[in-house]
Amino acid sequence: QTSARARQPAGAEAGPPPVLLPSAQPVPAAERILQRGIFEIDGRSCDVVLSDSVLWWRPIQPERPAAPAAGEWPRAAPLLSRKEEFIELKDLFSVKLKWRRSAKQQKGGTLLGITLFVCMKKEQNKLKDYTLTLNNLSEDHCFSWVRDLKKILTEFSNRPKSLKVLINSQSHKREASHIYYEHVEPLLKLAEIKTDVTITEYKGHALSLLKECELQEFDGVICVGGDGSASEVAHGLLLRAQMDAGIDTNYILTPVRTPLPLGIIPAGSTNVLAHSLYGITHIVTATLHIIMGHMQPVDICTFSSAGKFLRFGFSAMFGFGGRTLASAEKHRWMPPNQRKDFAMIKTLARLKPEDCEISFLPAKGSQDFQEASRTTESDYNNQWQKIQGHFLNINIMAIPCCCSVEPGVLAPNTRLNNGSMALIIARNTSRPEFVKHLKRYASLKSQFNFPFVETYTVEEVKLQPRNNSGCDTGDVEFHGPSSENNYPWNVDGDLVEVPSEVHIKVHPQLIKLYGGNLEEMNDYK
Ligand SMILES: *[C@@H]1O[C@H](CO)[C@@H](O)[C@H](O)[C@H]1NC(C)=O
Ligand SMILES: *[C@@H]1O[C@H](CO)[C@@H](O)[C@H](O)[C@H]1NC(C)=O
Ligand SMILES: *[C@@H]1O[C@H](CO)[C@@H](O)[C@H](O)[C@H]1NC(C)=O
Repeated sequence: QTSARARQPAGAEAGPPPVLLPSAQPVPAAERILQRGIFEIDGRSCDVVLSDSVLWWRPIQPERPAAPAAGEWPRAAPLLSRKEEFIELKDLFSVKLKWRRSAKQQKGGTLLGITLFVCMKKEQNKLKDYTLTLNNLSEDHCFSWVRDLKKILTEFSNRPKSLKVLINSQSHKREASHIYYEHVEPLLKLAEIKTDVTITEYKGHALSLLKECELQEFDGVICVGGDGSASEVAHGLLLRAQMDAGIDTNYILTPVRTPLPLGIIPAGSTNVLAHSLYGITHIVTATLHIIMGHMQPVDICTFSSAGKFLRFGFSAMFGFGGRTLASAEKHRWMPPNQRKDFAMIKTLARLKPEDCEISFLPAKGSQDFQEASRTTESDYNNQWQKIQGHFLNINIMAIPCCCSVEPGVLAPNTRLNNGSMALIIARNTSRPEFVKHLKRYASLKSQFNFPFVETYTVEEVKLQPRNNSGCDTGDVEFHGPSSENNYPWNVDGDLVEVPSEVHIKVHPQLIKLYGGNLEEMNDYK
């Protein structure tokens, strides 16, 4: 407790005694006091102290307590009974002078004080913005405080100052623009972040833009849309990084990282990616993570076929998941939710297992790897495992895919960034059993506890359909002349049609995404 002395403002011996801060508060002892003054907060006159990392205040009481003995600060009332409050400056994202102005006035007016804009943690991973007003009519006083507070704000080097914003005009109910201009832009403006907005008009628009546009001036790229758009932007950013590094994008083996972080504002019909990142599908939370510069490196996969690079992506489904998406794409004219249900029912009605061979390399350090090491020679190459058979569905996920419709984690046996993927295989079974498995997918309890379901923790997967009959579903609609003999894959909600085997490899922490650290967040609930 004696360290509290260090917090005493320099040259403030004659002032009121320093306030002991609650011990839970992370103020270093060597905290520098930048400002101390009197403001009115919530109608009460307060003694306010600004240090390097904390702004704290307490109401001024008319009577002075007895001076404490030298070298000791009283722990008991009356000093401590007064309520101190504080905000940590790492939660501050904007500071403005507060003026009283007439409706027509643009400048000048009467200065009322300072407004601070703060990011606050709420329950369930939610972030909210709130304002704190420090009232004081003295211009000199307020100007000097604002100058110091702004200086502190500029020192958070992780926070973006300029962002490229891509809004998917085609996303769920075409709401993305509205969401951006109504809820996101005002906060970015408040934080004085410059933006350059493009509204993308068609699938692939964001990708072609990212391949060419000048990106140097930006600190990050924001995608306003659902999983499909977010995945396209992630792919575009990474592809661009490979091009800039002079890598042949037909054969990407060891990709380089992208310097630009990606932020996802959830505005689609599915927002699994956003949910995985923020632990919640909430627009203000997503926006505040971006403003505060919360970032984390995330794993992403390369997909290639016959030695040729196809794309980057976070997750993939083959079999039921791929066919359902292919069927949904044929019915684009339907409203999204209806389309999904329709496609799911239709695909279930024609449920058919895929005959294929799956080879995978267990992730080092994982349970599967240890088992593989025991049974094979320690030669790394021999640790490829092979499974053959008829499979109804195969899921491969580099990140835990939290479902925003029915909360739950689709792939609990992976993390956002521990360099492994979850491989979840459903072998052939009866339709009722498979339906049971699908229903349980979204719940956390014994998700994979079925005799026909197997899960592995892997680094690489090769999936080879054993017969070129991928489209032979009895569903004539699959037989477009162009997509004949193509197998439908669902990569992050995007339909990718591939004629032959697919090779998926996870690349640890290849892309930075705005968002909190999920280990610190609450469970996905
Ligand atoms: C990654 O984390 C998951 C979940 O905790 C674990 O099952 C898996 O083995 C980890 N992977 C590696 C390579 O450690
Ligand atoms: C898949 O399982 C169903 C139900 O058990 C069975 O009728 C069908 O013949 C199986 N298909 C294959 C290819 O094994
Ligand atoms: C591949 O399909 C053909 C007919 O399309 C069939 O005769 C053959 O047995 C199949 N091969 C395998 C390995 O399933």
